[in-house]
Amino acid sequence: MTRVYLDHAASTPMIPAALQTLLELSGQVGNSASLHGSGRAARRVVEESREQVAAALGAHPTEVIFTSGGTESDNLAIKGMAWAARAADPARNRVVVSAVEHHAILDPAHWLHSAQGFEVDEIPVDGDGRPDIHMPFLGPDVAVASLMWANNETGTLQPIEDLVDAARTTGVLTHSDAVQAVGSVPVDFGASGLDALTVSGHKLGGPIGVGALLARRGLALTELAHGGAQERARSGTMNAPAIGAFAVAVEAAVADQSTFAARVGALRDHLVAGILASVPDATLNGGSDRLPTHANITFPGCGSDDLLMLLDASGVEVSTGSACTAGVPQPSHVLLAMGRSESDASSSLRFSLGRTTRADDIERAVAAAADAVRRLRHQ
Ligand SMILES: Cc1ncc(COP(=O)(O)O)c(C=O)c1O
Repeated sequence: MTRVYLDHAASTPMIPAALQTLLELSGQVGNSASLHGSGRAARRVVEESREQVAAALGAHPTEVIFTSGGTESDNLAIKGMAWAARAADPARNRVVVSAVEHHAILDPAHWLHSAQGFEVDEIPVDGDGRPDIHMPFLGPDVAVASLMWANNETGTLQPIEDLVDAARTTGVLTHSDAVQAVGSVPVDFGASGLDALTVSGHKLGGPIGVGALLARRGLALTELAHGGAQERARSGTMNAPAIGAFAVAVEAAVADQSTFAARVGALRDHLVAGILASVPDATLNGGSDRLPTHANITFPGCGSDDLLMLLDASGVEVSTGSACTAGVPQPSHVLLAMGRSESDASSSLRFSLGRTTRADDIERAVAAAADAVRRLRHQ
């Protein structure tokens, strides 16, 4: 039985061109900091990749900092900007995030509070998962504010323009985690007015363990790890093979974005319609302004983990929004912030589609979800 993979938001397969680049470059020796020919060849891969990523995302090459992925980019952004802003102006002692951020933002923000003495505000969200960003949240005591471009559990698109507008008057630094958005919706760093933006390789057809932080020229960033200072505000030998493959994937994802969005959006709508028709009390989460790839659905009275296991047994791979803390499943913090009950937040599944998703995957997922709900309700 072939498996139906509908967990592309967790990790999506590498596109063939990126895989080929990764394999080819992995066979070549060379540290991009070395001065000999092999080192210079590795350096060339890195610098050409930097230009490719910058061109695809509306940035200047000097604004691209290669990292080990979304988590490192988010940490570098929020800590690096908060530290640098407070060092320049001790009154800037506050960090603002939305309540529905990924843990790669929430956890460093809370660490900045517990270990570093910053105040942290989590901006509440409405029933669709969108915060109302306005001035009182972004006063002159704020160092950095971070709002994801699109939510990873529901796909809800976030009001980035409102963030940039509100931050402008008080000089607050702005960051957006665009890990889920690049390749699914247009993302232009330069046009956004943001100070920094996070991208991750394995969410857009590149390898796991590589990504970038786009950081505006002149933006002060304090480094997380000290060492060889290979990148602006980042140390560590450059992973030239992964960076080369990442650049190929970013370029392809951005070039194909509108075609992909139209195709996958139609499949996603078909999935949602099929599930809501066969499970009439199921509800779709996240409003109408969402990524074309995501569908987060609550199945009242059915535990997410039980649903996930039954779907997995029938060959359909999805995810729950919830996290596990010490082996105990926790309801999704995103759905709770959106005002869902604990029970609904523990009865929801995320279906996320990608480039390899086909129409018959959707038929199988609808049938498997309907069957799983029936079995759970009749046991
Ligand atoms: C919104 C968001 N931010 C950050 C990350 C972390 O990215 P990475 O897996 O590259 O560390 C993820 C991954 O799930 C994500 O969905």
